Amino acid sequence: MDPTAPHGADARLRCIGCGGLATEVRGNCRCPHCNDLLEVELDAQALSGRSPAEWKALWRQRRTSEKPCDQSGVWRFRELLPILREPTAAITLREGNTPIYELPTCARDAGLHHLWAKHQGLNPTGSFKDTGMTAAVSRAREDGFEWLACASTGNTSASMAAYAARAGMKCLVLVPEGKIAWGKLAQTLDFGALTCQLRTDFDGCVRVLSEVIRRKPVYLVNSVNPYRLEGQKTAAVELLEAMEWRVPDHIVVPGGNLANASALGKGLMELLAHGLIPRLPKLSIVQAEGANPLVRAMHDFQGRELVPVIAETLASAIRIGNPASWKKAVRVLEQTGGACLDVSEGEIAMAKAAIGGEGVGCEPASAAALAGARKLAGQGFIMPREMVVLVLTGHGLKDTDYTLALHRGSLLPAAPQTPSPRPPVVLEADAEAVLRTMEPE
Ligand code: F0G
Repeated sequence: MDPTAPHGADARLRCIGCGGLATEVRGNCRCPHCNDLLEVELDAQALSGRSPAEWKALWRQRRTSEKPCDQSGVWRFRELLPILREPTAAITLREGNTPIYELPTCARDAGLHHLWAKHQGLNPTGSFKDTGMTAAVSRAREDGFEWLACASTGNTSASMAAYAARAGMKCLVLVPEGKIAWGKLAQTLDFGALTCQLRTDFDGCVRVLSEVIRRKPVYLVNSVNPYRLEGQKTAAVELLEAMEWRVPDHIVVPGGNLANASALGKGLMELLAHGLIPRLPKLSIVQAEGANPLVRAMHDFQGRELVPVIAETLASAIRIGNPASWKKAVRVLEQTGGACLDVSEGEIAMAKAAIGGEGVGCEPASAAALAGARKLAGQGFIMPREMVVLVLTGHGLKDTDYTLALHRGSLLPAAPQTPSPRPPVVLEADAEAVLRTMEPE
């Protein structure tokens, strides 16, 4: 391939605000004209070489190949993200290819016939961020950057640190001190990131990072980076593939900085535009009550304006008051007809315990998706026979402090919506004592 060819010759960057075009991302990744967000525009001819059935067969067949780029659940769909000069040399930890589980008990409790969960927490660093990070870091390396950087509630930083290490790049992490789960902090240290715990919240970390970026040529891998969303959108393709291309009625995701919903929505729109699916599912976004700026924006301003909030929630991954991708998320809600709602701390905790009770571990933020689906089913927005898929965004071992507090009964003040604790039992080393605890009461 001609090394002087422009990057992503098939994929332009278009501003979602002024519609202007850009050829590369710089600095804060925003439009050089109006400062709004950029997104990759997939060429209408990108999939013209084969029929939809042939593409589907090729993408599936690549899973049996030994090549790293084929084993990646992102790069096996590389025709949908033509953003690298050399996709076969992508920095990959074999992200993606995550399972979909049925959750029969959760379904029954929500009054639904079936409920599925696509577990993005089963990515290499334990969160959905890996699918985007492989794209952004690969592109940064091709563009010759030395430093990567992000502000994070923990998962983006863990993911960036891992991919930076694989790429042999340096990386800077800004996280709010004391407000991220320890598992995530441990990962960034393990993977060798320069890790700064700032005495502020996530939104404060974003502010500091924007100044760092103005003063030093570091490559920003927060989700304002449009290449990251290209990687993350492949989860929608995988989801459809796993459902044998039957389009679910609803996809429900938790919302923080609102990039995941934006990326999945973009993926779905492209599948529709290229004839790979006949219709769209409704994509709904669930926020925590204490960190619900999008819910307010939809309710108070019909999605035309977003007023930042001071965010508070025990689901620390989504403790975000000023989400960067809110305009993209509004567009996805409008295009798919999805709902935007918030759930209480008790509802999140109930949902987390219910998912755990099915043998599936996830983060509190991920459990917000189930809490939201339950609410939407109760309101009649989701009908009992409809096909619903939750996206579980993070691994159960990321935030064990939350889970222990939940089951020891110390997470929340006892209230009707608090799950029954399942505390460990401490006993003498005596079989009789153990057997007695196994007797029904
Ligand atoms: N779930 C988990 C486990 C997350 O880590 C995040 C975001 C979200 C949901 C929300 O996704 O921001 O795309 O709407 N975590 C970011 C981070 C912000 O820094 O790790 P979103």
